[in-house]
Amino acid sequence: MTQYDVVIIGGGPGGYNAAIRAGQLGMKVACVEARATLGGTCLNVGCIPSKALLHASEMFNEAKTGFASLGIKVDPVLDLPQMHKQKADSVTGLTKGIEFLFKKNKADWIKGFGSFAGPGKVLVKAEDGSEQTLEAKNIVIATGSEPSRVPGVEVDQTRIVDSTGALAIPAVPKKLIVIGAGIIGLELGSVWRRLGAEVEVVEYLDRIVPGADAEVATAFQRSLTKQGFKFRLGMKVTGAVADDKGVKLTVEPKAGGAAETLDADIVLVAVGRRPVTAGLGLDKIGITPDPRGFIDTDHYKTSVPGVWAIGDVTHGPMLAHKAEDEAVACIELIAGKAGHVNYDVIPGVIYTAPEVAWVGKTEEELKAAGVAYKSGKFPFAANSRAKVNHEAEGFVKVLADAKTDRILGVHMIGPGVGEMIGEYCVAMEFGGASEDVARTCHPHPTRSEALRQAAMGVEGWTMQA
Ligand code: NAI
Repeated sequence: MTQYDVVIIGGGPGGYNAAIRAGQLGMKVACVEARATLGGTCLNVGCIPSKALLHASEMFNEAKTGFASLGIKVDPVLDLPQMHKQKADSVTGLTKGIEFLFKKNKADWIKGFGSFAGPGKVLVKAEDGSEQTLEAKNIVIATGSEPSRVPGVEVDQTRIVDSTGALAIPAVPKKLIVIGAGIIGLELGSVWRRLGAEVEVVEYLDRIVPGADAEVATAFQRSLTKQGFKFRLGMKVTGAVADDKGVKLTVEPKAGGAAETLDADIVLVAVGRRPVTAGLGLDKIGITPDPRGFIDTDHYKTSVPGVWAIGDVTHGPMLAHKAEDEAVACIELIAGKAGHVNYDVIPGVIYTAPEVAWVGKTEEELKAAGVAYKSGKFPFAANSRAKVNHEAEGFVKVLADAKTDRILGVHMIGPGVGEMIGEYCVAMEFGGASEDVARTCHPHPTRSEALRQAAMGVEGWTMQA
């Protein structure tokens, strides 16, 4: 039986970062991962391949619709197999990169499915049926999440797909119906819309992207509608029947009313994700997940001493960077250091065009909490760099405490905002005020000036709009 300081179950952004940090801190560490490559959902069938397709489809769409006005005449032809290949090549390169980082930090990758064999013991079953037991003082559960299902809508990954199937559709569907107007549905819907599919989104709520600031969500919906998206909000999906030709989806207004049947070539189910704990043997060590399947923790400690949980399998936003931060904090706590995650500064990004990015509280959250705040807003239409690039859609909104001026939330929709939100994350980590950003020199001409102009707006002295 091999003895470890830490064994991590799961090799996604939570698990692999935990393994690397443990190796850096000199612990004897193993990471158990059943998939053929490291990186979990994010690298293999999530964040990374979706961004590869978002980038490529955006280039295709730009070549088709944007280049001519720049004085570039082209007649682009879609080569979908090559688009999928470049996506797969990027994924392979990045998963190999994690293997390299494991070797560099002396973290062992134990290939196989891990489960608890008892306190301090992890049984690993390899694909060939062989078994081994690892013993560890600390075991970190980082088993992630999987797509949630809609009753009556059976995913076959051909006609009815989830996020994994939607990354591998072999031919552009004529009509794609997306169930769920969340991040996955709108990102993957964007990919196929840009490649030529008609896209209709069926959403249960009366708005898109729940959790995002409502003003941004409204602007985002308007923008996607201009791109050809159709939205059916406030609708309940009650069933789906798929055959060789397509899918018949039955929907009805959630407020009551007549049911309708919608026809699609492909239906994408994107209604959220649920934690993965099946087969882990949690009962053998006395952990009971909550009714929704999440493992409760207190600073990553479960109810069982020496067993920790991080990432999507525990509470909080299901985001790779949140899992990564928890991985570092959890391992540092195991090492006797002061591991900590600031949950008030976890950014969110939707990688569409325009992009959507936010950090901190929304206006709705501040109002509900009775917090007095001031707001500054700046449109990209008044930003010189965005204008010359013909991408002047969207705005930046900064929310700051009315009395102290401390930044409480930032919400943006526009070009490249996913890359720029980090500036406000740093400002907020330092307890920054809107005036700190407003008085910081930003390079001209860049889109980042919009971030500063919006901050100026909090005190009412935006200069360029
Ligand atoms: P989501 O929770 O963001 O959105 C799901 C949507 O489906 C919600 O608007 C919900 O109201 C709707 N819905 C639920 N049941 C429905 C039904 N039966 N009929 C119609 N609508 C229904 O979930 P999503 O988009 O699947 O993403 C899952 C997780 O993955 C999220 O936590 C997300 O943050 C994360 N993710 C993050 C990405 C990023 O950071 N760019 C990219 C992809 C996923």
